[in-house]
Amino acid sequence: MHRFRPSFRTKVALLLCAVILVLGLTGIFNARRDISRILGAELEERGYAIANDLASNGAGLMLTGDLVALHDMVNRTMSNNPDVRYILVSDMRGQLEVSSFGNTIPDGLLEANTLPEGVTSQMRRILTEEGLIRDVAVSILDGGVGSVRIGMSDQAVISAVSDNSTTLILLVAIAVGGSFVVVYWLSHILTRPLAQLVIAVQRVAEGDLSQRIRYPATDEVGQLGRSFNTMAQELETQETDRRLLMNKVITSQEEERKRVARELHDDLAQRLTSVLLSLEIAELKMRSGNLNGDNPFVGARRETEDALEGTRKLIADLRPTVLDDLGLVPAIRSVADGHLSKTGTRVKLSAKGFSEKLAPEVETTAFRIVQEAITNIARHSQARNATIDLKLFDGSLQGEISDDGVGFDSQDINLRAMAFGEGLGLQGMRERASLLGGSLSLSAGKGRGTRVSFSIPV
Ligand SMILES: Nc1ncnc2c1ncn2[C@@H]1O[C@H](COP(=O)(O)OP(=O)(O)OP(=O)(O)O)[C@@H](O)[C@H]1O
Ligand SMILES: [Mg+2]
Repeated sequence: MHRFRPSFRTKVALLLCAVILVLGLTGIFNARRDISRILGAELEERGYAIANDLASNGAGLMLTGDLVALHDMVNRTMSNNPDVRYILVSDMRGQLEVSSFGNTIPDGLLEANTLPEGVTSQMRRILTEEGLIRDVAVSILDGGVGSVRIGMSDQAVISAVSDNSTTLILLVAIAVGGSFVVVYWLSHILTRPLAQLVIAVQRVAEGDLSQRIRYPATDEVGQLGRSFNTMAQELETQETDRRLLMNKVITSQEEERKRVARELHDDLAQRLTSVLLSLEIAELKMRSGNLNGDNPFVGARRETEDALEGTRKLIADLRPTVLDDLGLVPAIRSVADGHLSKTGTRVKLSAKGFSEKLAPEVETTAFRIVQEAITNIARHSQARNATIDLKLFDGSLQGEISDDGVGFDSQDINLRAMAFGEGLGLQGMRERASLLGGSLSLSAGKGRGTRVSFSIPV
């Protein structure tokens, strides 16, 4: 089943409409009550005024018994006052003298409002088939001659109230409809940047990192848009870096394989061929019993020793066996001495807290990072002094490698790395540290030397 899920702006608009509707209906209800009360009171007052008029003007006619003139007066009063439904004039004994009905009076009407002894006027509400009638009775000359009764119809009051209500309902409907349109339109304008942001976030989630919010405003939503742009930019940069690094890793693996193959071909295979030749010569000489001249075994042994030496070197190049043989700190010392002595850079190495054995991946990572930093110092820095500080502290391995060389502008390097894919040693260091949940930071500037700091949880 399809469920109604109103948007934010629909909710706001509906809520406002509901408030206006409730307020409007309450207003209409109160207005109806007040208007009908006021008009009702006015109707009664008019009833009294007409009855008093008739009583004073009709008294003489009653006394002289001029019922024709009295009848005329009643008819005139009826036609002048549309609210007057009927007029009854009775004598002092209660006998009907003149009536606007003619000869037939509705049943029970005569008895519906009789003045008690000593009362000169009173009003009764009578419910008839035609609706509510306010019946006003007034005595003529204090009851000495008779009484006049006027029936005032409520119809005019009811139609006035209902006319008024119709107008009010119309106004409330216009207010509700109008405010819905205005609020809906306003909130559309207000939420449009949010909708744009939602779409952009969805696209980023689908992998399109080039999404940006165009022309973000200066308000809070605009600020959100700018933060989004920064985030997307950062993601895109990281993604590019990651790709470059992957490429570099794959290429360098490939190159390493080629180098190993070449080395095996040019060195080991050559030497083994030469050993084979020497052994063949020795075999021939032994068969023919001619063992004069050079001893062929001596050559073969020398070749074998050389081949063994070459193989060891190849293995050492491939894996940091020094780590296995010496442990982390001495291995680093040996790399530092080996590389930096050639360039005449003095190295100071300090290591604190290395009492326990570290996990192999932590050792290898730390070794590779420091090795790259040392290689960079040797290749790029022209430094006179370098320091390497290592310590095991607070559950992490912390290292700092600094030099007093020419330094570099890290912005330049980032740009070059992105544009040409070169110089990925620094990125590789960072990547290695973060693979183990650690971090690496660089501090460098032209002419200010270079400092690499890293921390790896152990
Ligand atoms: N200690 C340093 N002193 C001066 N410049 C440095 C130092 N370390 C790095 N750089 C500069 O930063 C650049 C990037 O270094 P990075 O190690 O990423 O690449 P690389 O050494 O050029 O190449 P590779 O990818 O083979 O390591 C270097 O080319 C160099 O200009
Ligand atoms: Mg490098």
